Amino acid sequence: MTYLSANSLRGTYTGTLRRNAPSIPVTTWECPFSVPLAGAGDLSRMWQHSLMPATTRLISVNDVERLAGLQLSSRLFLAPWDPIRADPYFTVAGQQAEVENALARHGRGEAVPHVILDEDSQVVGRITFSGITYGAFQSCNMGYWVAQESNGRGYATNAVRAMTALAFKELSLHRIQAETLIPNARSQRVLERVGFVRYGTAPKYLKIAGRWQDHLMYQLLTDSH
Ligand SMILES: CC(C)(COP(=O)(O)OP(=O)(O)OC[C@H]1O[C@@H](n2cnc3c(N)ncnc32)[C@H](O)[C@@H]1OP(=O)(O)O)[C@@H](O)C(=O)NCCC(=O)NCCS
Repeated sequence: MTYLSANSLRGTYTGTLRRNAPSIPVTTWECPFSVPLAGAGDLSRMWQHSLMPATTRLISVNDVERLAGLQLSSRLFLAPWDPIRADPYFTVAGQQAEVENALARHGRGEAVPHVILDEDSQVVGRITFSGITYGAFQSCNMGYWVAQESNGRGYATNAVRAMTALAFKELSLHRIQAETLIPNARSQRVLERVGFVRYGTAPKYLKIAGRWQDHLMYQLLTDSH
């Protein structure tokens, strides 16, 4: 069974996604629709970019060299917000293993690993849904990063918006969760601008930069499912 939506018809298919049993084409897309959302006030104005440019696509093994370069050049910038990474992570071989692992999880329906693109379709970062769960939960977790040199141009915000559309329109999820370290004002700004609502603080939630650290918890809900 193939799932298509109005937005996917506008895009270019770049991979397949499994949600439960069926395979679903994943696409880069424009986002011309409004999504009814709940729990975050009136979000309709956040969808008024009626022709949002394509901002993400499924990760590919062809991205490995570029990702290794970005991870290396942004290593110090990303370090305070990431788990501790061993040196091999910043090599082409390390990124090859990362991408293959991400695509394997995608094939099992557990994750949606996308790259974030700039206006020239150059990869500038990554954004991933993980822990995709259906049943009574219908939820996933979202993580992202943008290379230091490409910060402050709205790439993360656009990518989060685009992935939100994917989650609610194509994956039929009810909830997206994201969490940030308390000092990560930039990431909080991205989430709040897209309509995510902060619902609490989780003590010692993730081991970041070598320490179990408290996180601010955010979620975005839809009424559609
Ligand atoms: C968080 C991150 C993804 C943001 O990427 P980005 O492409 O620069 O984000 P955007 O340009 O879409 O938006 C950044 C927003 O933060 C604001 N901002 C930037 N620096 C800030 C700061 N020090 N304090 C508060 N807000 C800040 C920007 O002004 C912008 O908001 P605005 O457009 O309303 O002005 C990027 O900085 C990053 O990868 N950080 C390290 C990894 C990380 O934190 N990942 C998320 C983990 S929760």
